[in-house]
Amino acid sequence: MNVIHLLNYNMSTPIPYSERIDILRKDKQSNLILAIDPKYGESNLFGYVFNLITKLGKYLCAIKLNFHVILPLSFTELQRLNLAAHRERLQIMADIKLNDIPNTNNVTIQYLHSMGFDSIIVNPFIGKTNLESTVNFAHSLNCGIIALVYMSHSGASEGFGVSVVNPLLDTPSNTQSQFYNVFYENSKICKVDGIVVGGNKLDVLKELASKNKKNIPIYSPGIITQGGNIESALECGSDYLIIGRAIINSSDPLMELQNINKFINHRFYK
Ligand code: XMP
Repeated sequence: MNVIHLLNYNMSTPIPYSERIDILRKDKQSNLILAIDPKYGESNLFGYVFNLITKLGKYLCAIKLNFHVILPLSFTELQRLNLAAHRERLQIMADIKLNDIPNTNNVTIQYLHSMGFDSIIVNPFIGKTNLESTVNFAHSLNCGIIALVYMSHSGASEGFGVSVVNPLLDTPSNTQSQFYNVFYENSKICKVDGIVVGGNKLDVLKELASKNKKNIPIYSPGIITQGGNIESALECGSDYLIIGRAIINSSDPLMELQNINKFINHRFYK
């Protein structure tokens, strides 16, 4: 069956987000997600993002849009960009690290969904019950939820790495566990569609990947510009790599992306 037809999320038997991106990953032989983060005040922002989608889309399974694009562009412009991305057979992630009460989360998800976004990154700090209701609501719209489990920046250990006693774990009450382990367990229970673990945080990545056993797809930012290495991240268990500045700010983004894609396919999938 035609992949474009398969991925029409308005179909009567909709395909869940995690399957849509997996189909595209296999069909396009790319596990790369482009973080389109233009600089502040980019002139013709719409055209800049549109050009990247149409020129690079063939070598990607998804794009990730952040506040760099979601804040300055209008609802209609975002809809048009997301339509262009779907035409290029891309999934679109909204990286807003959603972290609020259920009512606010749901209204935000509804707006992002009606703009055409396929998945939304959520901060599991909202707690298990709230995460579960957020996932259920997103799934009712056939939208995916990706949970932040361990971030890629240098201060990640000060938040995600802090040891806590988790009242929800079946362990003695004096047993400590880091936030990232609690977030991972809650993400699994709540049936999120993916987790974010920094591709430059190899110890945590390896630990979670061995627990996870390919159960929940692992999305990894932090590659190249933030010090992460493609080969190490994939060896340690990343399923999807999120790369931004190393591609979009290079002198030839298309060639840079093609080289990365070729390297991954040659090293890992041939
Ligand atoms: P670069 O240019 O560093 O872009 O390749 C990375 C992109 O990913 C975002 N980012 C994260 N998003 N969890 C996330 O959900 C993280 O741990 C994380 N680390 C980086 C960053 O904002 C940029 O868009």
